[in-house]
Amino acid sequence: AVAPDLAGRHVVVSAGGTREPLDPVRFLGNRSSGKQGYALARTAAARGARVTLIAANTGMPDPAGVDVVSVGTAVQLREAVLKAAADADAVVMAAAVADFRPAAYAAGKIKKKDDRDPDPITLVRNPDILAEISTERARPGQVIVGFAAETDDVLANGRTKLERKGCDLLVVNEVGERKTFGSEENEAVVLGADGSETPVPYGPKEALAETVWDLVARRLE
Ligand code: PMT
Repeated sequence: AVAPDLAGRHVVVSAGGTREPLDPVRFLGNRSSGKQGYALARTAAARGARVTLIAANTGMPDPAGVDVVSVGTAVQLREAVLKAAADADAVVMAAAVADFRPAAYAAGKIKKKDDRDPDPITLVRNPDILAEISTERARPGQVIVGFAAETDDVLANGRTKLERKGCDLLVVNEVGERKTFGSEENEAVVLGADGSETPVPYGPKEALAETVWDLVARRLE
């Protein structure tokens, strides 16, 4: 049996990858499957929390006993996170959010013109949701957790990102063949704003999720 150490708590988890539309048939996206976020949602529910899962393009069945809000773009994800975070004890941003979106949306499918080169795609910045909720805490004592998928200088980049975003914990996972995006397994180091480092060995995404909730529960006490 699992200790119901999140009973009476409301936690918000974002999962999946945002898609930023170019036209009715195309988008800019990323390789997030949503598996890590769903593992976080399932394990939090098993530990007694009320869970709001904000799912971006995951195509996975809703976990039992979890409130699911489906979104497409980063702007929609922001709206849903801000709404759910208003009365949340903790927010965990496992979603891969596009930093930029196309400046223009073409109402009709963009056509290939045989006689000339394609037009460049102009991008504009998306809002940084994690930085926003960390700076403007909806509640005192709210615990905010970010994720970072890095390809190089993983720990140094993670530490810089933690400081820039202002969250309490940042789960740094290295992009690799059998971990991070799309796989069943993951491996990470959880960095704390208090300077702590909690390594999580290679294993199922549930195991990493449990460690995240252990660290969150300790901070909520
Ligand atoms: O979904 P899976 O296939 O299981 O894969 C899991 C995962 C690899 C997607 C996950 O473990 C992970 O690492 N998610 C974060 C991906 C990432 O690279 O994030 P980032 O470094 O771009 O952003 C850092 C943090 O800021 C994240 O918590 C992100 O949700 C948040 N962010 C980013 C940009 C933005 N505009 N707003 C944000 O809130």
